[in-house]
Amino acid sequence: MDGHPVAYSRRVITELMVPSYANFGGKVHGGTLMSLMDKLAYVCASKHAGNYCVTVSVDNVQFLQPVEVGEVVSLMGSVNYVGRKSLVVGIKVTAENLQEGMSKHTNTCYFTMVAKGADGKTATVPPLVLESEEEVRRFCSALQRRRIREEGVAFMNHYKSSFTNDEAELNLLSDERCVLAIRPE
Ligand SMILES: CC(C)(COP(=O)(O)OP(=O)(O)OC[C@H]1O[C@@H](n2cnc3c(N)ncnc32)[C@H](O)[C@@H]1OP(=O)(O)O)[C@@H](O)C(=O)NCCC(=O)NCCS
Repeated sequence: MDGHPVAYSRRVITELMVPSYANFGGKVHGGTLMSLMDKLAYVCASKHAGNYCVTVSVDNVQFLQPVEVGEVVSLMGSVNYVGRKSLVVGIKVTAENLQEGMSKHTNTCYFTMVAKGADGKTATVPPLVLESEEEVRRFCSALQRRRIREEGVAFMNHYKSSFTNDEAELNLLSDERCVLAIRPE
Protein backbone atom coordinates (compact mmCIF):
# COMPACT_ATOMS: atom_id res chain seq x y z
CA MET A 1 0.00 0.00 0.00
CA ASP A 2 1.49 3.37 -1.06
CA GLY A 3 1.83 5.98 1.66
CA HIS A 4 0.98 9.67 1.74
CA PRO A 5 3.30 12.41 3.01
CA VAL A 6 2.17 14.43 6.04
CA ALA A 7 1.61 17.49 3.79
CA TYR A 8 -1.02 15.57 1.78
CA SER A 9 -3.57 15.82 4.61
CA ARG A 10 -2.31 18.86 6.59
CA ARG A 11 -5.13 21.41 6.97
CA VAL A 12 -5.88 24.71 8.74
CA ILE A 13 -9.25 26.02 9.94
CA THR A 14 -9.65 29.71 10.81
CA GLU A 15 -12.76 30.94 12.59
CA LEU A 16 -13.91 34.21 14.17
CA MET A 17 -15.13 33.76 17.75
CA VAL A 18 -18.63 35.29 17.73
CA PRO A 19 -20.70 36.17 20.85
CA SER A 20 -22.88 33.05 20.56
CA TYR A 21 -19.76 30.96 21.33
CA ALA A 22 -19.36 32.56 24.78
CA ASN A 23 -20.01 30.93 28.15
CA PHE A 24 -21.52 32.75 31.16
CA GLY A 25 -18.09 34.15 31.99
CA GLY A 26 -17.86 35.82 28.56
CA LYS A 27 -15.07 33.55 27.28
CA VAL A 28 -15.35 31.06 24.43
CA HIS A 29 -16.77 27.67 25.48
CA GLY A 30 -14.18 24.87 25.67
CA GLY A 31 -16.78 22.71 23.92
CA THR A 32 -16.87 25.07 20.92
CA LEU A 33 -13.12 24.64 20.50
CA MET A 34 -13.42 20.87 20.98
CA SER A 35 -16.05 20.73 18.24
CA LEU A 36 -13.80 22.65 15.81
CA MET A 37 -10.86 20.40 16.67
CA ASP A 38 -12.97 17.28 16.11
CA LYS A 39 -14.02 18.55 12.66
CA LEU A 40 -10.42 19.28 11.70
CA ALA A 41 -9.27 15.88 12.99
CA TYR A 42 -11.94 14.28 10.79
CA VAL A 43 -10.81 16.24 7.71
CA CYS A 44 -7.10 15.37 8.15
CA ALA A 45 -7.74 11.72 9.04
CA SER A 46 -10.27 11.09 6.26
CA LYS A 47 -8.04 12.75 3.68
CA HIS A 48 -5.08 10.56 4.65
CA ALA A 49 -7.14 7.37 5.03
CA GLY A 50 -9.24 7.92 1.90
CA ASN A 51 -12.10 6.65 4.05
CA TYR A 52 -14.67 7.76 6.59
CA CYS A 53 -13.07 8.07 10.05
CA VAL A 54 -14.49 8.12 13.59
CA THR A 55 -13.02 9.72 16.70
CA VAL A 56 -12.03 7.12 19.26
CA SER A 57 -10.06 9.08 21.86
CA VAL A 58 -8.58 12.50 22.58
CA ASP A 59 -5.33 12.99 24.52
CA ASN A 60 -3.89 16.06 26.20
CA VAL A 61 -6.95 18.31 26.24
CA GLN A 62 -5.80 21.35 28.16
CA PHE A 63 -6.99 24.92 27.82
CA LEU A 64 -3.84 26.87 28.57
CA GLN A 65 -5.35 30.36 28.14
CA PRO A 66 -8.92 31.64 27.71
CA VAL A 67 -10.11 32.58 24.23
CA GLU A 68 -12.03 35.85 23.95
CA VAL A 69 -15.00 36.71 21.77
CA GLY A 70 -13.68 38.71 18.76
CA GLU A 71 -10.44 36.73 18.53
CA VAL A 72 -9.65 34.71 15.43
CA VAL A 73 -8.84 31.11 16.20
CA SER A 74 -6.59 29.09 13.89
CA LEU A 75 -6.42 25.33 14.18
CA MET A 76 -3.53 23.57 12.46
CA GLY A 77 -3.92 19.83 12.03
CA SER A 78 -1.67 17.14 10.63
CA VAL A 79 -1.44 13.37 10.81
CA ASN A 80 1.32 12.63 13.32
CA TYR A 81 1.11 8.86 13.42
CA VAL A 82 -0.47 5.97 11.57
CA GLY A 83 -1.05 2.51 13.02
CA ARG A 84 -2.86 -0.30 11.21
CA LYS A 85 -6.40 1.06 11.33
CA SER A 86 -5.94 4.11 13.53
CA LEU A 87 -4.27 7.47 12.98
CA VAL A 88 -3.35 10.28 15.32
CA VAL A 89 -4.02 13.87 14.26
CA GLY A 90 -2.10 16.51 16.23
CA ILE A 91 -3.88 19.86 16.46
CA LYS A 92 -2.36 23.15 17.55
CA VAL A 93 -4.74 25.99 18.38
CA THR A 94 -3.80 29.68 18.42
CA ALA A 95 -6.00 32.72 19.02
CA GLU A 96 -5.22 36.12 17.48
CA ASN A 97 -6.40 39.51 18.64
CA LEU A 98 -6.60 41.38 15.32
CA GLN A 99 -6.56 44.89 16.83
CA GLU A 100 -3.54 44.30 19.07
CA GLY A 101 -1.83 41.96 16.57
CA MET A 102 -1.14 39.48 19.37
CA SER A 103 -1.34 35.73 18.92
CA LYS A 104 -1.39 33.16 21.76
CA HIS A 105 -1.08 29.39 21.83
CA THR A 106 -4.17 28.07 23.60
CA ASN A 107 -3.80 24.31 23.25
CA THR A 108 -2.35 21.30 21.49
CA CYS A 109 -4.08 17.95 21.57
CA TYR A 110 -4.09 14.61 19.83
CA PHE A 111 -7.12 12.91 18.30
CA THR A 112 -7.00 9.17 17.66
CA MET A 113 -9.24 8.37 14.70
CA VAL A 114 -10.16 4.99 13.25
CA ALA A 115 -10.86 4.48 9.55
CA LYS A 116 -13.98 2.66 8.39
CA GLY A 117 -14.68 1.23 4.96
CA ALA A 118 -17.93 1.45 3.01
CA ASP A 119 -19.00 -1.81 4.69
CA GLY A 120 -18.78 -0.09 8.11
CA LYS A 121 -15.85 -2.29 9.17
CA THR A 122 -12.54 -0.86 10.36
CA ALA A 123 -10.18 -0.31 7.41
CA THR A 124 -6.40 -0.37 6.98
CA VAL A 125 -4.78 3.06 6.65
CA PRO A 126 -1.96 3.93 4.19
CA PRO A 127 1.50 4.42 5.75
CA LEU A 128 2.71 7.92 6.58
CA VAL A 129 5.69 9.23 4.61
CA LEU A 130 7.91 11.23 7.00
CA GLU A 131 9.85 13.93 5.18
CA SER A 132 11.47 15.90 8.01
CA GLU A 133 13.09 15.38 11.42
CA GLU A 134 10.10 17.18 12.98
CA GLU A 135 7.70 14.67 11.40
CA VAL A 136 9.83 11.77 12.69
CA ARG A 137 9.83 13.33 16.19
CA ARG A 138 6.03 13.67 16.12
CA PHE A 139 5.59 10.07 14.93
CA CYS A 140 7.90 8.75 17.69
CA SER A 141 6.15 10.92 20.32
CA ALA A 142 2.76 9.53 19.26
CA LEU A 143 4.15 5.99 19.55
CA GLN A 144 5.27 6.76 23.12
CA ARG A 145 1.86 8.27 24.00
CA ARG A 146 0.20 5.12 22.61
CA ARG A 147 2.49 2.88 24.69
CA ILE A 148 1.83 4.92 27.86
CA ARG A 149 -1.95 4.90 27.20
CA GLU A 150 -2.00 1.11 26.69
CA GLU A 151 0.05 0.60 29.88
CA GLY A 152 -2.31 2.99 31.73
CA VAL A 153 -5.40 1.09 30.56
CA ALA A 154 -3.86 -2.26 31.57
CA PHE A 155 -2.85 -0.83 34.97
CA MET A 156 -6.34 0.60 35.67
CA ASN A 157 -8.10 -2.60 34.55
CA HIS A 158 -5.95 -4.57 36.97
CA TYR A 159 -6.45 -1.95 39.72
CA LYS A 160 -10.26 -1.96 39.31
CA SER A 161 -10.55 -5.75 39.25
CA SER A 162 -8.32 -6.19 42.31
CA PHE A 163 -9.58 -3.19 44.32
CA THR A 164 -10.48 -3.93 47.95
CA ASN A 165 -11.47 -1.46 50.63
CA ASP A 166 -8.69 -2.75 52.87
CA GLU A 167 -6.80 -0.73 55.44
CA ALA A 168 -3.75 -0.14 53.23
CA GLU A 169 -5.94 1.33 50.48
CA LEU A 170 -7.95 3.49 52.89
CA ASN A 171 -4.72 4.78 54.50
CA LEU A 172 -3.82 6.28 51.11
CA LEU A 173 -6.82 8.59 51.57
CA SER A 174 -5.67 10.08 54.85
CA ASP A 175 -4.06 13.13 53.16
CA GLU A 176 -6.81 13.54 50.57
CA ARG A 177 -9.70 16.00 50.69
CA CYS A 178 -12.47 13.46 51.16
CA VAL A 179 -14.61 12.31 54.08
CA LEU A 180 -15.28 8.61 54.51
CA ALA A 181 -18.98 8.23 55.29
CA ILE A 182 -19.74 4.73 54.05
CA ARG A 183 -23.19 3.46 55.06
CA PRO A 184 -23.66 -0.28 55.55
CA GLU A 185 -25.80 -1.65 52.68
C1 LIG B 1 -13.30 2.89 16.93
C2 LIG B 1 -13.86 1.49 16.97
C3 LIG B 1 -14.32 1.07 15.60
C4 LIG B 1 -12.71 0.57 17.40
O1 LIG B 1 -13.22 -0.73 17.41
P1 LIG B 1 -12.32 -1.93 17.93
O2 LIG B 1 -13.11 -3.17 17.85
O3 LIG B 1 -11.68 -1.55 19.24
O4 LIG B 1 -11.25 -1.99 16.81
P2 LIG B 1 -9.82 -2.62 16.91
O5 LIG B 1 -9.62 -3.38 18.18
O6 LIG B 1 -9.59 -3.36 15.61
O7 LIG B 1 -8.88 -1.35 16.95
C5 LIG B 1 -8.69 -0.56 15.81
C6 LIG B 1 -7.68 0.50 16.14
O8 LIG B 1 -8.27 1.43 17.05
C7 LIG B 1 -7.40 1.62 18.15
N1 LIG B 1 -8.22 1.90 19.33
C8 LIG B 1 -9.29 1.21 19.76
N2 LIG B 1 -9.76 1.75 20.88
C9 LIG B 1 -8.97 2.80 21.16
C10 LIG B 1 -8.94 3.78 22.19
N3 LIG B 1 -9.82 3.78 23.19
N4 LIG B 1 -7.99 4.72 22.16
C11 LIG B 1 -7.10 4.75 21.16
N5 LIG B 1 -7.06 3.86 20.14
C12 LIG B 1 -7.98 2.90 20.16
C13 LIG B 1 -6.66 0.31 18.28
O9 LIG B 1 -5.44 0.49 18.98
C14 LIG B 1 -6.43 -0.04 16.84
O10 LIG B 1 -5.34 0.71 16.35
P3 LIG B 1 -4.35 0.11 15.21
O11 LIG B 1 -5.22 -0.51 14.15
O12 LIG B 1 -3.59 1.29 14.72
O13 LIG B 1 -3.50 -0.90 15.89
C15 LIG B 1 -15.04 1.36 17.97
O14 LIG B 1 -14.55 1.52 19.28
C16 LIG B 1 -16.11 2.41 17.69
O15 LIG B 1 -16.85 2.32 16.73
N6 LIG B 1 -16.19 3.43 18.59
C17 LIG B 1 -17.14 4.50 18.43
C18 LIG B 1 -16.50 5.63 17.64
C19 LIG B 1 -17.47 6.76 17.40
O16 LIG B 1 -18.62 6.54 17.10
N7 LIG B 1 -16.95 7.97 17.52
C20 LIG B 1 -17.74 9.15 17.36
C21 LIG B 1 -17.85 9.84 18.65
S1 LIG B 1 -19.46 9.69 19.34
